[in-house]
Amino acid sequence: MSNNNFVNQNIKPLNTKFNNKGNLEISGCDLTDLAKEFKTPLYVMDKETLLTMANDYKKAFSAYPKTKMLFASKALMTSAIAKILDEIGFGFDVVSIGEIYTLINAGIKLDKVSFNGNNKSIEELEYALDNDIDHISVDNFYELKILNEIAKGKNKIQKIHLRITPGIECHTHEYIQTGQLDSKFGFDLSMMNDAIELILNEYKNLKLIGLHAHIGSQIFETEVYKDEAKIVLEEIKRIKDKFNIELSEINLGGGLGITYTSNDNPPSVYEIAEVLINSINSNCERLNLEKPTLYIEPGRSLVCSAGVSLYTIGSEKTIKGIRKYIAVDGGMADNPRPSMYQAQYSAQIANAKSENKPEIVTIAGKFCESGDILIKDIELNSPQSGDILCVYDTGAYCYSMSSNYNRVLKPAMVLIEDGKGKLIVKRQTLEQLVQNDVI
Ligand SMILES: Cc1ncc(COP(=O)(O)O)c(C=O)c1O
Repeated sequence: MSNNNFVNQNIKPLNTKFNNKGNLEISGCDLTDLAKEFKTPLYVMDKETLLTMANDYKKAFSAYPKTKMLFASKALMTSAIAKILDEIGFGFDVVSIGEIYTLINAGIKLDKVSFNGNNKSIEELEYALDNDIDHISVDNFYELKILNEIAKGKNKIQKIHLRITPGIECHTHEYIQTGQLDSKFGFDLSMMNDAIELILNEYKNLKLIGLHAHIGSQIFETEVYKDEAKIVLEEIKRIKDKFNIELSEINLGGGLGITYTSNDNPPSVYEIAEVLINSINSNCERLNLEKPTLYIEPGRSLVCSAGVSLYTIGSEKTIKGIRKYIAVDGGMADNPRPSMYQAQYSAQIANAKSENKPEIVTIAGKFCESGDILIKDIELNSPQSGDILCVYDTGAYCYSMSSNYNRVLKPAMVLIEDGKGKLIVKRQTLEQLVQNDVI
């Protein structure tokens, strides 16, 4: 578990080490102190790691000055995280009224926001237009129709992208592949002429300015990005030749992978940027196109490595000759990824240990599902009840996917800044749990 690479290539946040008390610390902040003060389970985000990755994104894409960075909010949306990313110039890819509301709650305008999703409701689209969203990435014919009606009712011309499925399959988990033909997302290329004819001839309150694609998540290959840019630009050329309009924006989505365990080997953001930019430059030249504005919308790679989850170890069960389970005070409700798609994680005991006694154990959650296993067969140093367990790389798709399964309260989230932990999401209360119940 070394920390010598770019952020998404490390398992741990930057500046993670055992301090002179023998406890794990991140950026000078002792994790056992955080666990004591804020209780467990606890999400912890390290601001320095987050900003380092965000700045690496900016540097990596600075070779293509027409790049606009959006954060894919679905990975982790809280008001404080949104504010940090807004302050360093990121816009947002949102997929629901709740994500939009969170931005507005954080005082963020929607002029750098793209609204995406395969079944946006009328209420959501109206809310987005009322708050002057920059553009909508339209996913299907039904949405084209209702969006045009909504824009017309508000006397607006709404900028749109069309979300396309470029027909690229990347080698990631089936549930997180989105760019292949058999996908619930977007127009496939055979539908494009019909869509554009409708926009040009009937839907006068929509202004088509770009194409949007996203080929999947936790991607370790670089070639797929080269192909994605080529396919999107070839479609722009085809549209130019057929309809005499040159779209000026492309959004190539997110997807860069991260290192959850030592088996993962993602490229750096610099490698991805180089492949994408080279492909855009060479294809624009070949197809005689103006260089478009490039949107990218990373989620996982921006926030995941900055986050860890802290748990307290409780019960244990040893099945002789088979395995030893240790159970923690959280699990599938605060991190559904292992039970949903067999996601794998790395972890360490965060408190000092008087001896070095490595043991292979399986970390079980506390929820009433046999599948609620956080990590199968991991080596930990003599795990005991009362120990604090630190699970790495939980900054993305954990809090945002969390639930109240078994009526368990959602954990708090703390941001490490200047060596201290600052509460950015409070732990849910029992009162909040029942506040919407009607008897
Ligand atoms: C359209 C779109 N953009 C961006 C992302 C972010 O992907 P990732 O978190 O892998 O970077 C997703 C995630 O599924 C997505 O669906």
